[in-house]
Amino acid sequence: MNDATSSGPWDALRAMPVPTLTTLFADEPDRLSRMVIEEAGLRFDFCKTHLNAAMLDALAELAEAQGFAARRDALFAGDVVNESEGRAAEHVAERGQGAPDAVAAARMLHARMRGLIDVIEAEAVGPFRHILHIGIGGSALGPNLLIDALGDDAERYDVAVVSNVDGMALDRVFRRFDPAATLIVVASKTFTTAETMLNAESALSWLAGNGVADPYGQVVALTAAPDRAVEWGVDETRILPFAESVGGRYSLWSSIGFPVALALGWDAFETLLEGAAAMDRHFRLAAPLQNAPLMAAFVDCYYAVVRGAETRAVFAYDERLALLPPYLQQLEMESNGKRVGVDGAALAVPSAPITWGGVGTDAQHAVFQLLHQGTHLVPVEFVAVIEPGDALDEAHHEALLINCFAQGAALMAGQPNDDPQRAYPGDRPSMTILIDRLDPARLGALLAFYEQRTFANAVLLGINPFDQWGVELGKTIARSIVEEGTERFDASTRALIARVRG
Ligand code: F6P
Repeated sequence: MNDATSSGPWDALRAMPVPTLTTLFADEPDRLSRMVIEEAGLRFDFCKTHLNAAMLDALAELAEAQGFAARRDALFAGDVVNESEGRAAEHVAERGQGAPDAVAAARMLHARMRGLIDVIEAEAVGPFRHILHIGIGGSALGPNLLIDALGDDAERYDVAVVSNVDGMALDRVFRRFDPAATLIVVASKTFTTAETMLNAESALSWLAGNGVADPYGQVVALTAAPDRAVEWGVDETRILPFAESVGGRYSLWSSIGFPVALALGWDAFETLLEGAAAMDRHFRLAAPLQNAPLMAAFVDCYYAVVRGAETRAVFAYDERLALLPPYLQQLEMESNGKRVGVDGAALAVPSAPITWGGVGTDAQHAVFQLLHQGTHLVPVEFVAVIEPGDALDEAHHEALLINCFAQGAALMAGQPNDDPQRAYPGDRPSMTILIDRLDPARLGALLAFYEQRTFANAVLLGINPFDQWGVELGKTIARSIVEEGTERFDASTRALIARVRG
């Protein structure tokens, strides 16, 4: 079992002299070939990080000491890796990897999903032009990212993903969509999440209030709790279940991906799964220092644990990936934002850094000042795509990519100046992920890379990435306001509630 309660394994790394980035290139002539990994149409460039050969060897030893290989085997074997909830984490089975019985069960559920898509395509119900997908967290972020990233050419329906309980979110969609032609997709693993259920009720009322005779006839439910969906009123033939062992933020590969498969077509969805499977195989089989997710986790842990970086920033130099940072925020922070190890003892080292980011080049004119000259150490990640998605003059894409690469180079090299206000210290780390072209296979591989990197980080830190007990308190408090009144709260909170209630 991993020991996250001792900082011992990290001490050797802390004791190592820190090279400067520019000297690393001179000291290690083979750096480019060792620190770049190409896999599944993605190029991972770790060159501009401070990890030298000795540090990488130490990190590989640390991974071994933390039982990395056994833990990874346990993940793929479908063993219990989510100890606090006593279950496996079987999202890999959704893409055909992992325990044979879990893979077979996932295939059966995918077949059911495909069957319902065929029915909708054949217009046996509908016809639908609009899809209103209602869900939150893992039941919304993945589908929203995928449709936004890949929908431009292929999208066959107008899709809206609504997560916020703020009525504005739904109202905007109601104003745009035709109720008679709208398929309502209610996505909730538990089918109890308050925001989703309230939004779903309001969507039904909107249909009923606008002349739809059988509102439930236009509802599809995606859930691991099919009984609750039946109880709520959805016809069993339009409930697409998925396994309880698939975590919410890892669920886009399951029936939660239904709007993706419907909007982009079944072939695209299957290709997405195949791309993810290719990355899974790489993660399972590649040696530690040629293993992209593990190498990325080494970088993450080095900066978070050894160098004390509190955040990491991800900039997508591609409009199609604008929703990548919020997707990663849930994946990384809900998974690894923990204060105790697997055994419940307090961590001796920091856990996940805060993930933040944005879109380039916009972010250059907003937050990059801090990255170049601020006092915080922020490891930066650039994500860019070689093939443009637009049909404009190639000058646009050329400018986009040059900006991206120039930022990484400038963060590293800096620029001296006698005037301290104008000096750039440099030696600021970044890594770059360069994707051949943005298609379902590559995006599947990219998202699987992030999942496995998150898992690898958890193993190195000795924590469970598959539970999220920290979210429960907020849910309980919100419920108790409704059920028990405001007595239990402090004066400030009571006054805020009273002010609103008038
Ligand atoms: O925010 C907590 C959480 O449980 C996430 O893990 C999950 O993705 C989200 O709520 C939605 O949950 P559900 O799919 O059960 O509605």
